[in-house]
Amino acid sequence: MKRFTVTVYRHNPAKDQRSRYQTYTVAVEEGARVLHLLHAIHAEDPSLSYRYCCGTGQCGSCAVRVNGEPVLACMTEARDGMVIDPLNLPVKKDLLVDMEPVLGKIASIVPKDVECIPSRDEVEALKPLRSCIECLACVSVCPAMEVAEFAGPLSMKQEMRLAIDPRDSCDRITDAIRDGLFMCTTCQYCWKVCPKKIEIPGKAIEKLRRMANQRGLTLPRHAEVATLISETGRSVPKNQPTFLDQVPEVIEPAGPVRGTVGFFVGCMYNNRLPQTALDAMEVLSRNGIRVIIPHEQVCCGSPLIRTGQTDILPDLMEKNIAAFTCRGIDTVVTMCAGCGSTLKNDYRTPFVVKDVNEILTEIGIEEPARLPIRVAYHDPCHLLRGQGIQKQPRELIARVAELVELPVKCCGAGGGTRSGQPEVSKALAGKRAEEIEKAGVEWVISSCPFCEFHIGEHSKRPVKNITTLLLEGYRRKDQDRGGEAGESAAA
Ligand code: SF4
Ligand code: SF4
Ligand code: FES
Repeated sequence: MKRFTVTVYRHNPAKDQRSRYQTYTVAVEEGARVLHLLHAIHAEDPSLSYRYCCGTGQCGSCAVRVNGEPVLACMTEARDGMVIDPLNLPVKKDLLVDMEPVLGKIASIVPKDVECIPSRDEVEALKPLRSCIECLACVSVCPAMEVAEFAGPLSMKQEMRLAIDPRDSCDRITDAIRDGLFMCTTCQYCWKVCPKKIEIPGKAIEKLRRMANQRGLTLPRHAEVATLISETGRSVPKNQPTFLDQVPEVIEPAGPVRGTVGFFVGCMYNNRLPQTALDAMEVLSRNGIRVIIPHEQVCCGSPLIRTGQTDILPDLMEKNIAAFTCRGIDTVVTMCAGCGSTLKNDYRTPFVVKDVNEILTEIGIEEPARLPIRVAYHDPCHLLRGQGIQKQPRELIARVAELVELPVKCCGAGGGTRSGQPEVSKALAGKRAEEIEKAGVEWVISSCPFCEFHIGEHSKRPVKNITTLLLEGYRRKDQDRGGEAGESAAA
């Protein structure tokens, strides 16, 4: 037996004014799950309420938050020091949440008058969506549901399941649009917490958007973006000299060559924030990286995939892959979280794709000077969840400034929400701006042009890219050295 001390959320809204945390020390078998801990606590304190049924990850009734993240209590190993909270849903008592308002709205099949048997292909298409155990972990983390009348990931999963089920008689595409299909920011949080790993953004939401597109139901602003891409190769209009207008095809490093990479700039850094991409070139160059920049590269297609408009996608993919392979490039670096996630997850590339944070931490960078500032890092969803990159940006930032952690949250810029559902996007950015103010930092640092642009519009604090922060550290270092050289010359 092993003893564990854990902290558990307690609240009985019928009796208590406010919630509290209670610490328990209990003994359970080695390898016990969180559910066993709760049973042991309950044996000592029968007033604790929690829900469970199968104990084997099948019924979905035991979902709680452990150290802030939703998990199934029966499938998660108990660890000393855990903090156990209810899901972020209305609490009935302690760890018991009210599931009924969500489950009561989930659509059910409305059979056709004539009998219909799904084909083998249709059964295969239904497979990725049918393992749901209705635990509501996905619903409890969805940022769009916090600010909008969005039915949420579980509803979207169910609409998609029914939309491709030949036995169902309803128009699920119109239902999904009514329920907020275009409000999802594709932050991927629902997918990452789902115990059954159901890929709701890609396998339900983006597919429903594609079906909506086939019926001419794409949002007009999304259709404008698709037209712009097919006419110019870029998802945002050019209103200044672009990054590609300003750089040669090859940027040689300042010192000895430590590596060679291709650079995929993406539409936002090319057309809207070219200076940020130029800053990144300086940082790569200072650290011995030769950068090859094919000028014929185009939009990666992410705005089209996320909004369900994939007609011209194969053409974009072919152009981008050819631009790098014809130059014999084996590693392509991007600094756009959305492009990186798309190139890594939606493309099949004959080259390796790396985010700029990965390459800089892998090669090991020259030490920058420290700046006397406190900064907060905003995790871009498509970097954190789309590429699993969490520690590298923090490692780089900590070289230059004091890093203050923010709660991890979507800023609302992704998934076509900023253009198609600006009120949802703005509401999420407003929440993010409040958290930034609360953190009391001078700057916000991120690593995605959409996040940087969007948070920059809504926050009072300047928002900078990680490579710009590093560059400022290098500039300070050069100034300090210049000062030292000047002093010794004077002496
Ligand atoms: S991807 Fe994000 S915004 Fe979309 S349904 Fe999932 S959690 Fe909600
Ligand atoms: S989709 Fe996944 S997280 Fe959401 S209710 Fe179903 S099993 Fe739970
Ligand atoms: S008790 Fe059934 S899934 Fe955990």
